[in-house]
Formats: sequence, structure tokens, C-alpha cells
Amino acid sequence: MQIELLKEFQNRFHKEPENMFFCPGRVNLIGEHIDYNGGNVMPCAISLGTWLAVSKNTDKKLRFQCLNFPEMVDLHLQSSYSRTGKEWFNYPLGIINQLLEDGYSISGLDMLFYGNLPIGAGLSSSASVEVLTVFALDQLFQLNIPRTDMALLSKKVENEFIGVNCGIMDQFAVAMGKKNRAIQLNCDSLNYDYIPFETGEYVLAIINSNKKRTLTDSKYNERFSECGAALKLLKQELKVQSLCDINMISFQSHRHLINDPVLEKRALHVISENERVREAAISLKAEDMIAFGKLMFASHQSLKELYEVSGKELDAIVNFCQTFNGCIGARMTGAGFGGCAIALVKKESISDFTIQLSDYYKKKIGYAPDVFASEIGDGVKEWK
Ligand code: GLA
Repeated sequence: MQIELLKEFQNRFHKEPENMFFCPGRVNLIGEHIDYNGGNVMPCAISLGTWLAVSKNTDKKLRFQCLNFPEMVDLHLQSSYSRTGKEWFNYPLGIINQLLEDGYSISGLDMLFYGNLPIGAGLSSSASVEVLTVFALDQLFQLNIPRTDMALLSKKVENEFIGVNCGIMDQFAVAMGKKNRAIQLNCDSLNYDYIPFETGEYVLAIINSNKKRTLTDSKYNERFSECGAALKLLKQELKVQSLCDINMISFQSHRHLINDPVLEKRALHVISENERVREAAISLKAEDMIAFGKLMFASHQSLKELYEVSGKELDAIVNFCQTFNGCIGARMTGAGFGGCAIALVKKESISDFTIQLSDYYKKKIGYAPDVFASEIGDGVKEWK
């Protein structure tokens, strides 16, 4: 990949890139739709991601190109930008705009991106591009931005420039990931802990349902508002800042305040899922993968029944996993409504798993899923 990107950069810009960078995507092991509710999540960085070859220029131009997309965007360097349409370059442009607004100065840039994360599949391709861009500019212009601030800045861009009310999980995971570690992150305090994620006799399989998410952003924002509405009702009697400040015992004695069954289900998912993350951390520390796998199945059930962000494709994958002998846990990962599921599968069964799941899924859904075994990798870095 590195060679192709380098050659393409030379062909397109007739010079050498000054640097190359890589930022991974992520999977969330457990703790879904929790980050914008102030609770605990457990993501990790994966080996797929986004690369950038970049060089400064003296003609005050921002040139955005990408091997995955045809657009070649050429903008004058100015003091601010606004989003134009939905194209991919809005992500790096949003980052540049935010850095300029924050008072950092930069020169013109020639940028060539490439990514191998399936887009819209819930593996955080957008956070990967955002954090990649801020990290690259930090290195090129010696801005000295700490990694956690890179994640916060990228989230701000996603919220304000792109217009998705996402939490901090994705940007934090791809900025802070570590090889063979899950990150247990409290999304309120941003305190975090690296937990060994040694899968031993199992592999972490990522299964792309290949169902493209179309309504995701609006449905995602709808869930965000529903949680806000449930919180407001609970606050009539509870002194809390976010849904995840409430434990299950307290929720049970106050749930009558939510006089809407849909909002009640949303809150129940959030509060139970937050507790599952704590239990999951205990299981991982005790190297009890069986207990961890059970929590994955329970998480999926809750996302399906209570939060209603799964769908027939993701459910088909998890249903199959529940019946397959060598699989000890599975769930959808990311925002849902399509995208990917993850599963823990016995190493020696992974090829049977892939064949049988593909047959089952094709019969049920009509087209094939993609299955790949993933490594847990590092966060954003220079690509030498
Ligand atoms: C998306 C968002 C994250 C998080 C997940 C759901 O990936 O970008 O902030 O809310 O959905 O857990």
C-alpha cells in the first residue's frame, strides 16, 4: 500500500510526499450508544484504516485527493471554510477549518488519502480520516496537540461541521488505540484504562452485513434526542447529569417518571449496557472469555429489543452465531442499522464459521456478508 500511495503521490503532484501517516478504524467490543450518555465504552483500534501522503506547498492551495474517490478538490487557503455537500473531503476540510478557528497557522497542502475501511459499515471511517488529518497537521506544523485533544477536536468537527451528534468513542479509540488492548473509556471524565484483550484460542471476527446505512444519521440523532428526553423526565427527581449516572436500582424505582414506553426502553438499554461494560472489564481481567461472550450476546439483544438499532441483517448474523458451536459471543458494533457485527470464534473453526455463516446469510438476506479476522492495533501514527 505504502508504495502505491507513494507512486500515486509522485504522479499526481510531481514531487515526493514529506510524510505518510496511518490512522486505524475501530470496533467497539461492548458499550453501544453509551458515549453520548456519559458512560463506559470498550473500543479497540483495528488493522484496517486510512493512509495519508502529504506535503506542504507554497502556492497557498489545499489540494484534497483520494485513491477511493474521483473528486480532486483544489481550494485557496483562507481563514475559514464551511461544509460543501456530503463528499469525503469535508472531513479533512472540517479539521483544517477547526485548527484555523483555534488560531493555528498552516500553509498550503497537497494531500493524497487512501482507505481500506468499508465506508458506512460502522468501523469509523470518518473518525479515522478526521484524526489522521489532525495528527498529520500536528506533525507537519509542530502544533503539539495532545492525542486526547486531537480526539476532542475531531469530535467537535463531526458534531458541528459534519452535523452528526456522535460521542467521543470513535475519535478516542483511533487516536489512543494500543496493540492487543481494549480501551475502557469513561466518556464523561475521559478517564481510561488499557485492558489486555488477548483472545487466546479465539479470534475476533468482523462481519460486514454489507447492508448500507442510509437513514443512519437521522436515526442516530433521533436516539440522541430520545435519551435527552428520557433524562429530562428522570431529572424531575434525580440529581444527575447523564443517563449513565443512574444505576439499575435507582432506575427501577424512578422509571415511572418516564411516561412514554419508547423513551423508557431507550433508557433501560443505556443503563443496562453501561453496567455490562463494567462486568465485561471484570471478565477480561479474569481472562474469562466465555463470560465476556455472554455479555456480547446480551448487549446485542438489548440493542435489538430496547434501543431498536439492529435490523434483520445484523440479527441474522447474531442468530447464526448463537447456534454455531465454536462461537462464544457476537453483537452488532457501532451505530447499527446495518454495518458490522463482531464475533468471538474458536481459531480452528473460523473457516467453517465463514462458510456456514455466508450460506446461512445468503439464504436469509439474499447476498453475501464479508468476514475477516481482525488484529487489535495501535492508534494513529507516522507510517514509515
Ligand atoms: C457511532 C458514533 C459513536 C457511538 C456509536 C454507538 O459510531 O460515532 O460516537 O455513539 O455510534 O455506540
